Amino acid sequence: MVYVTRREVFSASHRLHNENLSDAENEAIFDKCNNYYGHGHNYVLEVVVAGEVDPETGYVIDLKKLKNIIKENVIRKVDHKHLNYDVDFMKNVIPTAENIAIGIWNQLADKIPSGKLYSVKLFETENNYVEYKGA
Ligand code: NI
Repeated sequence: MVYVTRREVFSASHRLHNENLSDAENEAIFDKCNNYYGHGHNYVLEVVVAGEVDPETGYVIDLKKLKNIIKENVIRKVDHKHLNYDVDFMKNVIPTAENIAIGIWNQLADKIPSGKLYSVKLFETENNYVEYKGA
């Protein structure tokens, strides 16, 4: 098994807020991330595809194809957008790094032409990242 990674970056804003909680509770849980008008991050996304090497091409997956799949299904939808309002696959979830990683996984899982989606890693800051590997 070989693991192939494509890295992409995007900039987006979000607000961490749970409509079912009071303003005080939201502030207690999310602190600065509850800021009314949101705030931004420069996200770094790493998508890993795992598979056998195709003896004909020497590839698990053509990285040009993987790049285009990520751009079309994820980056185009999230870059310079507000994750609470603008992004179809983020409707009705709190846009934490955890939920963004799950949303991105769901966008990509059935679109990988060779090998299988292995993980989605999302860096929200230099020091904080989450990784999702499916259910
Ligand atoms: Ni944030």
